[in-house]
Amino acid sequence: MKLLFVCLGNICRSPLAEALMKFHVQNLELSDSFFIDSCGTGNWHQGESPDKRTLDNALKNGLDITHKARQIKSEDIAVFDYIFVMDNHNLTSVLSTYPQAKDKIFLVSHFSKVHPNAIIPDPYYGEEEDFQLVFDLLNSITKELAIYFKHQQ
Ligand code: 4NP
Repeated sequence: MKLLFVCLGNICRSPLAEALMKFHVQNLELSDSFFIDSCGTGNWHQGESPDKRTLDNALKNGLDITHKARQIKSEDIAVFDYIFVMDNHNLTSVLSTYPQAKDKIFLVSHFSKVHPNAIIPDPYYGEEEDFQLVFDLLNSITKELAIYFKHQQ
């Protein structure tokens, strides 16, 4: 199963979603069945590590993130089984460039029973509490998602 997490800059939300999903999949001993990556709809931060505030907040919560930002490309739409976006802006942005993604693109919270169809708010202009909210939402949602895919196997 190939899963792609997408946000705007690929330096705050989606690299965190990628790392959390890898963590939860590993906890279920399913790592060998998954390929998990992240990217952004924009290209401003291409090649950069995640935002320092995301890295620091993740470390504070016990999670180490390694990723280099990249922009979504047409090959991604063919390769990945599921494309999970953080908000409706990401959804519109991907679909306007890649309408062929329509059957495999979902809000990251689409399968969540705890946070159904929740938006993951962009923390870029926010404070530490905004980064913590993103961490808590994505931690809960990706944990449910890992269990959802375990049951799909
Ligand atoms: P992300 O956050 O989409 O969660 O990575 C942002 C990162 C960068 C910018 C906006 C949001 N930016 O405007 O550069």
